[in-house]
Amino acid sequence: MDTIHITGNGPLSGQIPIAGAKNACLTLMPATLLSDEPLTLTNVPRLSDIATMTQLLTSLGAEVSALQDGQVLAMSSHNQNNLTADYDIVRKMRASILVLGPMLARHGQATVSLPGGCAIGARPVDLHLKALEAMGAELDLRDGYVHAKAPGGLKGGVVDFPFVSVGATENALMAATLAKGTTVINRAAREPEIVDLAQCLRKMGAQIEGEGTGTITIQGVDRLHGATHPVVTDRIELGTYMLAPAICGGEVELLGGRLDLVGAFSEKLDEAGIEVTETDKGLKVRRRSDHVKAVNVTTAPFPGFPTDLQAQMMALMCTADGVSVLEEKIFENRFMHAPELMRMGAQIDVSGGTATVTGVDRLKGAQVMATDLRASVSLILAGMAADGVTTVGRVYHLDRGYEHVVRKLEGVGAKIERIKSQ
Ligand code: UD1
Repeated sequence: MDTIHITGNGPLSGQIPIAGAKNACLTLMPATLLSDEPLTLTNVPRLSDIATMTQLLTSLGAEVSALQDGQVLAMSSHNQNNLTADYDIVRKMRASILVLGPMLARHGQATVSLPGGCAIGARPVDLHLKALEAMGAELDLRDGYVHAKAPGGLKGGVVDFPFVSVGATENALMAATLAKGTTVINRAAREPEIVDLAQCLRKMGAQIEGEGTGTITIQGVDRLHGATHPVVTDRIELGTYMLAPAICGGEVELLGGRLDLVGAFSEKLDEAGIEVTETDKGLKVRRRSDHVKAVNVTTAPFPGFPTDLQAQMMALMCTADGVSVLEEKIFENRFMHAPELMRMGAQIDVSGGTATVTGVDRLKGAQVMATDLRASVSLILAGMAADGVTTVGRVYHLDRGYEHVVRKLEGVGAKIERIKSQ
């Protein structure tokens, strides 16, 4: 297995281009199942999760062609003939459940394996299923699969989510575009990826109002047509790289970055003494002084502080002045990076969903292990400012969500190298 070696060094300078959003792309790709005309996505990130979704769509009979070195995906579900998503692919990636709503809406039936457990908590799919039931779907859970039917097609209904789920909102939104009549989704997720999906669906002919708010209203149409859509900027990749100069010092410009994508996160950086300014190309980030202040963070659905930036923020807090309290409200068991950061000398006390971090002067390089996607990049950020060499193992997690991470960080002066396994 490959490892990444990082030698802590001084301030960074330069520019980092930000890719299209993995999470947006993973919901835009299944949208191709809604139409028999082609859907083309541009600004696609080159990631293993995108390859997994490509494999899933292909297994269902859709055609997916990667063009321009993978930055463009031309998809067609014209000949899509298989309505069963197998466990072998679904188990690799939870977002696979997003094929359920589109297939059921277009074909009146679909069978999708349940995704199974995940390292960052139980992550059930009950809300996805309840949403489809509210649109008239008949569901049967057997042998680890959801067997869904909607004889005569889905019907518009009221989907009342008890709490916010990004994936369940996406599944419901896609399914509702082809349901007969009006669907109202209450307590809808407001994430930029939802807005991006709604914009793409609208280009395909869907009638949607209210995306980006807590209530989305969809008027079903008979069919959707083809479209071309650029994937929105990855706000999690953006936030991750904003932390690089915050942790190491120096000044870095994030090309394509937008403040509206990282509002709550930027406010916390500001509180910690990190300056974020808009430029004509993106966002520029630097420390106001040598000292970073400890700040408290509570994760929340958008527009709150994203759970997907909690691990990286913890890396910054490890050497901040004072004590910070990080509360994880979205996923249980999402502090697996804490023991790894402690191997580097961080002082962290985890109790339930709360981590208390007492800032130390310096971290020390160590051998650490990536436990999930965002945890892995937090260890890289920590290693960039630590004394000595940090070796990060299990970097396949990183390949799921960060394109060219070594090249991008090297480009701003980090000493980082990927060592291929023999
Ligand atoms: C998406 C993102 C992920 C991010 C998360 C929260 C993708 C591919 N992934 O994941 O990176 O961390 O949003 O911003 O876009 N839940 C249920 N029942 C359900 C669905 C969810 O109980 O049917 C729970 C989950 O266990 C979790 C919470 O709801 O505690 C929020 O999860 P959700 O927003 O659904 O996350 P994902 O869409 O899986």
